[in-house]
Amino acid sequence: MDPHHVKDILISSKEIEARVGQLVGEIAESTSTENLVLIGVLRGSFMFIADLVRDFNNHGLHPRIDFMTLESYGAGTSSSGNVRVTKDIRVDVTGADVLIIDDILDSGRTLSFAVKHLQNNGAETVKTCTLLDKPSKRVIDIVSDFNGFTVEDVFVVGYGLDYDSYYRELPHIAKVTFTD
Ligand code: IMP
Ligand code: MG
Repeated sequence: MDPHHVKDILISSKEIEARVGQLVGEIAESTSTENLVLIGVLRGSFMFIADLVRDFNNHGLHPRIDFMTLESYGAGTSSSGNVRVTKDIRVDVTGADVLIIDDILDSGRTLSFAVKHLQNNGAETVKTCTLLDKPSKRVIDIVSDFNGFTVEDVFVVGYGLDYDSYYRELPHIAKVTFTD
């Protein structure tokens, strides 16, 4: 399968590594560490989460960690309106300070749904951390509390992000050029 060109590297693995390190510092500085629960939104955030939390111990952060899978109906490169939970959290977030980790903030539907879902589950506070922000595509007014990089309106893959489940393994963020 190679109908796409994914050779244009937008953000290198070195740049990601450096920025992820900074993000952990930002999170440690301005997040309550008492009853912290980190919720990763699968599947696109798996690599980002793994790299982020690897550095947590050095910053005295010891959250409970869990995952949820959210999907919006429809395939292709833009999400549809309806977000649903296909794998819910197992951890009890009642009274907890929750930090949601997601790969990219695009229309904002997925992340705003996730925030509401965690609030509905009794979280005391809910903050968000995204690797990428594509502000040009925003439909719902939401700002991420912590964000790695802002990208222009292009479709990106790598470092966990996919096109049709491919390219998640790339260690960098690449731009996809559709050739047909
Ligand atoms: P939103 O609900 O429109 O904000 O969409 C967020 C979700 O769409 C992300 O969690 C990704 O799974 C997916 N997504 C949005 N833009 C891209 C992209 O450029 N590459 C890969 N996935 C994307
Ligand atoms: Mg996603």
